[in-house]
Amino acid sequence: MSRLIYILNGPNLNLLGKRQPHIYGHETLADVEAECRTLARQHNLEVRFHQSNREYELIDWIHEARETAGGIIINPAAFTHTSVALLDALNTFEGPVIEVHISQVHKREAFRHHSYVSHRSDAVMAGFGTQGYTLAVLRLAKLLKPAT
Ligand code: DQA
Repeated sequence: MSRLIYILNGPNLNLLGKRQPHIYGHETLADVEAECRTLARQHNLEVRFHQSNREYELIDWIHEARETAGGIIINPAAFTHTSVALLDALNTFEGPVIEVHISQVHKREAFRHHSYVSHRSDAVMAGFGTQGYTLAVLRLAKLLKPAT
């Protein structure tokens, strides 16, 4: 089983730390990446960490992950609520998929309550702040552990 995981981030998450900090907190995406890499290393996982504001780039990384990765963590951001294309791409991936939302989307506007991606996700983190990412890394570390 591949020990490589992809951590993918959708639109506007490049502004994490500056964007609506009362909702998304003060940590930057670089902080999140550093925390995930440290934790992943401790669990013998390799990380590819990406962010894009373009739907097709996220789809291309999912296609790449099909060939190389054991699992995917994805915060699709606003594409969560709009993108059948991302769902279709994730449906081509065979390993575990964990969906992360920094905010508790179910407490927010009604349009954030539906996730196309959740039709595929094996687990969903919402409302754990940026800690949701590291919790998701821990879960993948467990799921991708070779059987003993
Ligand atoms: C988000 C929640 C989405 O509704 C929103 O569009 C985002 C971020 C989150 O991490 O809480 O951009 O995915």
